[in-house]
Amino acid sequence: MVFYNIQKLFLSVLHAVGTQAECPVQLNPQRAVVRYSGSVAVNCSASVPHKGMGWEASEGAVTMTRDSLITWRVSNLIEWDIQPFCYINHEKQCQVELPVTIYKTPDSVSISIVDHSGPMIEGKQYELRCDVHNVAPVQDLTVKWYKGQTLLNQTTFIENSKTPVNETTTLLIRPDRADDGAQYRCEAELELGAEGPQPPPKETSGHKPKHFNSTETIIKNDEVTLNCTVKANPAPTYTWHSEHLKEEISFSVLQASTVLLSPGNYTCTATNSLGSDSKVFIIKSEQTG
Ligand SMILES: *[C@@H]1O[C@H](CO)[C@@H](O)[C@H](O)[C@H]1NC(C)=O
Ligand SMILES: *[C@@H]1O[C@H](CO)[C@@H](O)[C@H](O)[C@H]1NC(C)=O
Ligand SMILES: *[C@@H]1O[C@H](CO)[C@@H](O)[C@H](O)[C@H]1NC(C)=O
Ligand SMILES: *[C@@H]1O[C@H](CO)[C@@H](O)[C@H](O)[C@H]1NC(C)=O
Ligand SMILES: *[C@@H]1O[C@H](CO)[C@@H](O)[C@H](O)[C@H]1NC(C)=O
Ligand SMILES: *[C@@H]1O[C@H](CO)[C@@H](O)[C@H](O)[C@H]1NC(C)=O
Repeated sequence: MVFYNIQKLFLSVLHAVGTQAECPVQLNPQRAVVRYSGSVAVNCSASVPHKGMGWEASEGAVTMTRDSLITWRVSNLIEWDIQPFCYINHEKQCQVELPVTIYKTPDSVSISIVDHSGPMIEGKQYELRCDVHNVAPVQDLTVKWYKGQTLLNQTTFIENSKTPVNETTTLLIRPDRADDGAQYRCEAELELGAEGPQPPPKETSGHKPKHFNSTETIIKNDEVTLNCTVKANPAPTYTWHSEHLKEEISFSVLQASTVLLSPGNYTCTATNSLGSDSKVFIIKSEQTG
């Protein structure tokens, strides 16, 4: 008796799947994952002779045609709740909906300490806060807290929204002697599945130093300034190397008015806990141009 029931359930599941597959069209890909204002193209092909097929959508619709391969195409997709479907007139009309996920990476991911400024005191409890701005879709978002490379906590969101949202997560910490505060960061990751971008897009509250140009050539004069300043989070430290520099320098800017800058190469390295990046300044003498 029990066996009979299971068998009957199994058959009805098969039947349900069969019903859905009855519409004789194939979508390729079967699901679309598109960056906000990006482009998308999905094919719908008929597997039987038919009396007409088309794409219905608020953008990129394809009017009914006798062709057997039609493409839904949008070059600048900005409609968050678009619901395209491909239909076919076979024995009767049927349609297959295309699930569309439109994603947007956050405008910013930032970390702050709740109700506190200045240095943290060892052994006291603090609340760190991570703000993720303007991200979609929130159901695919994971916000992760790291200390150095160690994952401390992570949050996913149960709310369902196609349009961008702001999210805040918090982390309670009790700094100890080995902590320096600046090693904490949070990371917002969008897990968009196999059809989505690989690796999944990530934004982090901290970023390593990166120079815009890795070399810069400067003609020597009295006002030469070597500016190695680079934006990074946590703030980087700087070191300089050159055969012409005798002392150790830890400023981000070298000026001919304060340091003797002879023609030659000056390499500056900006470093924070996440990485480092070097830039070579080549000072040429006026004569050689
Ligand atoms: C859609 O069909 C066109 C024409 O056959 C083909 O060039 C294209 O690669 C197809 N795209 C996908 C995603 O299958
Ligand atoms: C998210 O925050 C920004 C800046 O504070 C604000 O302009 C925007 O309206 C917020 N978005 C939502 C969906 O609340
Ligand atoms: C970790 O995250 C969960 C939910 O996202 C939260 O309830 C919990 O308090 C967090 N743990 C710490 C130590 O902040
Ligand atoms: C970086 O290098 C390019 C090409 O060499 C140059 O056009 C540009 O001005 C440089 N940018 C900076 C900030 O020095
Ligand atoms: C060095 O560059 C940074 C960033 O580009 C700038 O903010 C700063 O004013 C510059 N410093 C000098 C002394 O030119
Ligand atoms: C300075 O750097 C340039 C480019 O990186 C290199 O071609 C040149 O040989 C270097 N000169 C010296 C004296 O190291």
